[in-house]
Amino acid sequence: MKILIIGGAGYIGSHTAREFLDRGHEVTVFDNLSSGLRQNLFAEEAFVYGDIMDYPALLRAAKGADCFVHLAAFKAVGESMVAPEKYSRNNISGSVNILNAAAEAGVRYLIFSSSAAVFGQPEYLPIDEQHPVHPESYYGFTKAEIERFLAWYDKLKGIRYGSLRYFNAAGYDVRGRVTGLEQNPANLIPVIMETACRIRPELQVFGDDYDTPDGTGLRDYVHVNDLAAAHVLALDYISKHDKSVTVNLGSEAGFSVLEVLDAARRVTGREIPAKVVGRRPGDPAKLTASAKLARELLGWQPHHSDLETLISTSWNVYKGFARGA
Ligand code: WQD
Repeated sequence: MKILIIGGAGYIGSHTAREFLDRGHEVTVFDNLSSGLRQNLFAEEAFVYGDIMDYPALLRAAKGADCFVHLAAFKAVGESMVAPEKYSRNNISGSVNILNAAAEAGVRYLIFSSSAAVFGQPEYLPIDEQHPVHPESYYGFTKAEIERFLAWYDKLKGIRYGSLRYFNAAGYDVRGRVTGLEQNPANLIPVIMETACRIRPELQVFGDDYDTPDGTGLRDYVHVNDLAAAHVLALDYISKHDKSVTVNLGSEAGFSVLEVLDAARRVTGREIPAKVVGRRPGDPAKLTASAKLARELLGWQPHHSDLETLISTSWNVYKGFARGA
């Protein structure tokens, strides 16, 4: 099929583009390079430099596409609480443009990059698709709202969608084909990698008094190649069954901050200084997914989401930037 990957030069977008190419699809990337990188583009794909706020540009790029994959969003939870306007404009208005362009150009399928952030504080674990949606960040709110738009455009315009609620995306392409570093990362594994490289002096561990075995936050890390595969499987499903689907994507394993840190020290052989500081506001103690529905409906299985692979594939990219011994 002809796939337009909006945000396809970003971290998850580039891995997803690679997966669609590997599966024989025809790929065009649409990206404004605000956080995406030219370095993340592949020779086999077409590239359109454009912004989702530019409706005519989006519509031109949409012509002839069978499917949109939409990963063009800001994703910093903390920033979304102080600059909601930025998130309203890009994540919400931008997504409305994308949906309207899809409707106008006759694009039949859309795969949307959603997030576990739609759930807010968990009421029970593991989190399945029945878990109530009550986001606690403005970022999570934008994702939850777009899911509601998707449901309406399915009903009114016949656009079938796959909404993929990622848990903690991490790792890099297991075959080393994506090499762009995320700019100013706030997530645990890239922060640990930057510390291992001496790009930052130390890891701050946000709280060690949580109700978890070692007191630090426990998360469900899922490898970006596994997430990428889910996009292709979701398109297979919605096109075959002419039916939309919303699924959680996680490895179903939970690792604490200290477990991730220990594994990173082992894999990298570097020191990685760390200091326990206060809790980060809004952080739940534990977050793990049930990915049963994705397994059953899409035939999805995580293959690379063990801690060793998550860290070693990241280190393969970061070690080129390491300073000192
Ligand atoms: C993981 C754990 C931190 C950094 C976020 C978004 C979520 C989704 C995934 C997009 C927590 C601890 C972290 C650090 C630390 N994003 N930590 N020191 O918050 O679980 O999820 O990314 O959709 O919506 O909220 O991920 O990687 O920031 O944190 O101790 O410097 O690591 O407290 O326990 P999070 P994270």
